[in-house]
Amino acid sequence: MKTPIYTRRDFVRLGGAAAVAGAATKAMLLDPPALAGQTPTGGRKIRFVSIGSGIRGCDLLRSARKVPMGELVATADLYEMHRKAGLEAYGADVPTTGDYRPLLERKDVDAVIVAVSDHLHRAIVIDCLAAGKDVYCEKPMSHNVADGFAMVEAVRANKRVFQVGSQRVSNIVYKKAREIFASGRLGEVTYIEGHSDRNSPSGAWVYPIPPDASEQTIDWKAFLRDAPQRPFDAVRFFRWRCFADYGEGVAGDLYVHLLSGIQYVSGINAAPKRAQSSGSLTCFKDGRDFPDLLATLYEYDGATVNLHCNQNNAAGEPIIFYGKEATMTMNGNTLSVAPQDTRPQPEGYALNGWTAAAKKQYLDDWNAAHPAPPAALAEVETYSAPPGYDDTADHLASFFRAVETREPVAENEVFGNHAAIACHMANYSYFHRNAATWNADARTIEG
Ligand SMILES: NC(=O)c1ccc[n+]([C@@H]2O[C@H](COP(=O)([O-])OP(=O)(O)OC[C@H]3O[C@@H](n4cnc5c(N)ncnc54)[C@H](O)[C@@H]3O)[C@@H](O)[C@H]2O)c1
Repeated sequence: MKTPIYTRRDFVRLGGAAAVAGAATKAMLLDPPALAGQTPTGGRKIRFVSIGSGIRGCDLLRSARKVPMGELVATADLYEMHRKAGLEAYGADVPTTGDYRPLLERKDVDAVIVAVSDHLHRAIVIDCLAAGKDVYCEKPMSHNVADGFAMVEAVRANKRVFQVGSQRVSNIVYKKAREIFASGRLGEVTYIEGHSDRNSPSGAWVYPIPPDASEQTIDWKAFLRDAPQRPFDAVRFFRWRCFADYGEGVAGDLYVHLLSGIQYVSGINAAPKRAQSSGSLTCFKDGRDFPDLLATLYEYDGATVNLHCNQNNAAGEPIIFYGKEATMTMNGNTLSVAPQDTRPQPEGYALNGWTAAAKKQYLDDWNAAHPAPPAALAEVETYSAPPGYDDTADHLASFFRAVETREPVAENEVFGNHAAIACHMANYSYFHRNAATWNADARTIEG
């Protein structure tokens, strides 16, 4: 294992509270790598514009305030109130517009943050790349498989820096998990599990419609762009995740974070070979296209990955790596590594059918073969990010640094495309009621 990234050692022995019988616990607080707080090495800030300042766009702008490497110079959004909210979020009075295209013509703009609904990622990202801008695009990278590959090709053709916005990939807890995974301490990991569960209307995207929402305040045609044309519908505009014309349901919204985390920690950078989904729409029958429960079993090279998203029970969002030697669990901003007790033990259960004499002989032989007392069980380790830790600020900082240095980012177009393909496979399997197979040569999902 390389130099630990934590510096403040805060070891707490909790003996009796250990998660594994006989194992003590030590808890450590991770120090942020402080990338977010760094200033540009060349002295010049990365000048960026933001396209889309809705829920996520505003969150990004709030986090971007903490990242001195970047400087917002303009924003664009189709909806009047979101334009104002974006400026409030960043706390700067920069120009804001409904039409993003003139912003891409500005020579003083280095980069663009794209935080629009998923069906618009491809078109807007390709416009930005063609204009010579580096791009941070929100997750999931693509709305469908073809969009993802078109974006990969555009990044390469234009030689731009491109980062997808699944911020766990820059989270210090995930960096620690990746280090632990790479050290081999978990032993062979053949099974990984994750879920992202909620139990509220908001968790199922039943977002309130602002009273001023109308075709006078929202450019509905620009929102639809190449999607099927239909009359103005505020429900579709604000709850777009529910509809296949614009989103991908829980797979694109939530699986993608789990998958990006798993890819980053394990080093998997490929689409799964197969996916088999099941699920149902039981509670939120409001005209949406997607299930409110989705469970998928993925087959990756070397690991089985089991995910689910349930919008009807708030069971949190852990990711668990089950190794032969230890189990590693990430949950929010914490991580624990619990040893498996693989110390040699004399057989007990299988001796139930043995005579007393045979048992005694077996145990005498076993004790003679194992004269040394058993080694102490390794401690359960827990690592936490400090309270208030903001991984989005670190993710933005990683992007700005790459814009400056031209060094590759972890969550680039290939990584992001693989995570998104896995989401599309989950939906394909659910809707076709069949296993989805990835055909890498043809770049298609097959039934
Ligand atoms: N990384 C995360 O944790 C995270 C969290 C939430 C959402 N997201 C992603 O962020 C993106 C945006 O989601 P959201 O929740 O903010 O949606 P939202 O509907 O709240 O905001 C999207 C905004 O994009 C604007 N927009 C759409 N087309 C535009 C265009 N052509 N020009 C300018 N503005 C345009 C809309 O007017 C709207 O204000 C999605 O891809 C979503 O999956 C990521």
